[in-house]
Amino acid sequence: MQAQKKSESLYQRCPVSGLFNYGLHVDPRGGEFEWIIRVRMPVKKIKWDESVSVGHPRLDEHRKFFIHLLNKMEEHQNDLVSSEAISQLIYQMREFATYYFALEEECLRKAHYDDFDSHKDQHRKFKEKTASFCVDIMNHKASAPREIYRHLTDWFAEHIVVTDSRIKPWLQIKADAAVSHP
Ligand SMILES: [Fe+2]
Repeated sequence: MQAQKKSESLYQRCPVSGLFNYGLHVDPRGGEFEWIIRVRMPVKKIKWDESVSVGHPRLDEHRKFFIHLLNKMEEHQNDLVSSEAISQLIYQMREFATYYFALEEECLRKAHYDDFDSHKDQHRKFKEKTASFCVDIMNHKASAPREIYRHLTDWFAEHIVVTDSRIKPWLQIKADAAVSHP
């Protein structure tokens, strides 16, 4: 456990350019070490856009948080798997999956969404993947941060942007019905 902390303190972002990480990585299990330089390419951040909105204020707050999470993961994708930032991000990812999916599924159930089961199944797969990333992190799998980042970008492009675009009209119908029948 101490060796793990030691490796973190020796591993840092270049203070001049900020574009790469460098440091001495000490393997917390074997006591071996190696010099690491990881290039950090500047990537354009994803910004909230109304096209990502599902027209439901509480759901949209969670969706904004997902984008924040994705951008943070982009910043930390080359960090050591044992870093504090990675622990925090995987924790937040689990929180997002737990609370957001429950709320979205509740809204879809009430709206009698016609593709509810397969939509819920996609959420379940995301939660399972998140749980497997937790195991990877506990096992110090070095590539886990980059794999998490890739997974989040895929989820954003395929589910948040495309699949969830189908639910917006259903949520709207429900909201309109609530207004006309208070
Ligand atoms: Fe969804």
